[in-house]
Amino acid sequence: MASPFSDPAFYRDRYPVYAALRQRCPVARVPMGGSSGTATVVTSYDQARAALADLQLSKDTNAFFADRPSGRALHPALASTMLNSDPPDHTRLRRLVTRAFTPARVQQLRPAVRTLAEELVDGWSPGDRVDLMEGLAVPLPITVICRLLGVPAADHDRVRRWSLDLLATGDHERIDAASHALAEYMAALAAAKRTDPDEALLSALVSARGEDGDGLSELELVSLAVLLLVAGHETTTAAIGNSVLALLQHPDQLALLRSDPGRIPAAVDELLRYDSPVSIATWRWAPKATRLGEAEVPAGSPVFVSPGAANRDPDRFTDPDRLDLDRPDAGSHLAFGHGIHRCLGAPLAQAEIETVLLLLLDRFPGLQLTEPAAQLAWRHSRLVRGLEALPVQL
Ligand code: HEM
Repeated sequence: MASPFSDPAFYRDRYPVYAALRQRCPVARVPMGGSSGTATVVTSYDQARAALADLQLSKDTNAFFADRPSGRALHPALASTMLNSDPPDHTRLRRLVTRAFTPARVQQLRPAVRTLAEELVDGWSPGDRVDLMEGLAVPLPITVICRLLGVPAADHDRVRRWSLDLLATGDHERIDAASHALAEYMAALAAAKRTDPDEALLSALVSARGEDGDGLSELELVSLAVLLLVAGHETTTAAIGNSVLALLQHPDQLALLRSDPGRIPAAVDELLRYDSPVSIATWRWAPKATRLGEAEVPAGSPVFVSPGAANRDPDRFTDPDRLDLDRPDAGSHLAFGHGIHRCLGAPLAQAEIETVLLLLLDRFPGLQLTEPAAQLAWRHSRLVRGLEALPVQL
């Protein structure tokens, strides 16, 4: 079997591939393409939910690559983030960051998100043609995360450039260089916040303490700052693009939202289910042979769980390929993952998507695509399903 992930058609429309894999076996052995060997890919809702919470599967990539040298020169802060760690390390890190990244902090950020989004579209007039990705979906989330962390406005551009470089799939030299630049920048910023604290999250993380009185080490602090930046940026960008596209392709559903914008918060769940931005979750692997449902997972096998596939499983969601903003169970989607690594930034992401939808509905009643949806270019990333560009007429 050829790798489905090597086929450009996969990135245009993943859902037929996911459906075929799920039908063949919800936990399947799949060639990953190139020299990457074979991995276990999970595509049914029940198995995906179970695998995401399964502590037999490790997220410790350093342990996986310990005897498989990758020849990479990533900064150590990026090679061992909270998302790449298992309990008890993960438990301690997550507790410390949860204390600092409170719901109140997200609530406080909401008006700033609205102001930022308004500033981005202020020069736009009805009838203009714009790329919604470049103009709104890309700059908004990265600026919000920079604000959240307390990155000074003058540095937003370079931080954004490094964080984009980190996602330059395949270009290892560029990724490794960006990892050092960003980690060194964050280390210097953390040192500055230590002597001159402000109200932002990085200062709160600098002084966060666990029950034992211990805080984050220098490396852990930098690693968390970089993780928040990277995890919170590209995913939310993709979510905004996918949500707007899905609504433009379903005018009846868009009309529902226009007639009652109070439905937007609930609609965001269905939009995340329908075209999930994290289509294949981050790296897991089986240190020992284990079972997932009926399937045997051999020791040493990487395991890729697909929220994108799980959220279209007909055994879980009726008529899953239909966007239905009235779906009663949309909130049980796995777009933010599940278990101990469930997305830490979900409320913030939700606030950003809601803000953008509200603003676009309000300002641009005639919003429409300027190209057939089938011609839009999608990013070639296994992890993130997101558009390269979304050309619209306002
Ligand atoms: C719509 C936007 C977003 C989506 C779809 C999303 C999705 C996810 C998913 C699926 C995971 C779990 C990955 C896995 O288990 O393999 C995750 C973890 C995480 N996300 Fe998000 N995310 C989004 C936005 C954000 C934002 C805005 C932030 C930060 C401000 C953030 C921070 C994190 C962090 C720190 C983790 C790791 C949690 C842990 O390891 O305990 N995410 N996200």
